[in-house]
Amino acid sequence: MFPESVLRTKRLILRPFDTSDIPDTHASCADPLTQRWLPLPRPYTLDNATNWCTATADALRDNGDGIQFAVTDARTKRLMGQVGLKKTDWRTLVSEVGYWVSPWARGHGVATEATRAVARWLLADQQFQRLELRAATENTASQKVALKAGFHREGTLRNAGFVHGGRVDLVLFSMLPGDLASSA
Ligand SMILES: CC(C)(COP(=O)(O)OP(=O)(O)OC[C@H]1O[C@@H](n2cnc3c(N)ncnc32)[C@H](O)[C@@H]1OP(=O)(O)O)[C@@H](O)C(=O)NCCC(=O)NCCS
Repeated sequence: MFPESVLRTKRLILRPFDTSDIPDTHASCADPLTQRWLPLPRPYTLDNATNWCTATADALRDNGDGIQFAVTDARTKRLMGQVGLKKTDWRTLVSEVGYWVSPWARGHGVATEATRAVARWLLADQQFQRLELRAATENTASQKVALKAGFHREGTLRNAGFVHGGRVDLVLFSMLPGDLASSA
């Protein structure tokens, strides 16, 4: 499993979820844009947020799936989003990144900054060999995040994902250790 970790960037602190994140996680995950692109419970209840912040996020590190970070404003400490690693393959040293940004924090580069930080931590500090990112072909904002964070577009995975609206094609992106220099 990954070690419990706190990552710092210019504007953000990425740390484990805790009970203080429950109301903002609830608001962020019940938000229509988050619900459009992520297959989260619908309706997303306060109980769902409580379970995520107090049990599920930690369990997904304990069982080796990956690591989940609460993305917070370094100045105000408020929750700005989530970034996490999932589906980690410890034999091939490959993992996959995913994220959502809270409605009040969108459009300021938060997803890009948080994704870069996690990519650097995984590919440099943890010495992984490949980080994948999948985004629905119509999720333009997420694809921009991938490219701005320094990922390479590899192709389209037909019918590979699902959202509440139905099945979707996914664009596959990847980042390798050698790509880090250009993702500063
Ligand atoms: C995708 C998401 C995480 C982006 O977060 P963010 O912090 O606002 O992203 P950034 O500020 O780093 O912006 C990334 C780029 O997307 C652009 N963008 C944001 N919303 C957009 C939209 N609705 N349509 C097109 N481009 C958009 C931004 O303008 C920016 O591009 P620019 O620098 O060329 O202007 C956020 O919109 C979100 O939470 N969406 C719902 C959940 C989701 O889609 N998760 C990813 C699943 S793969």
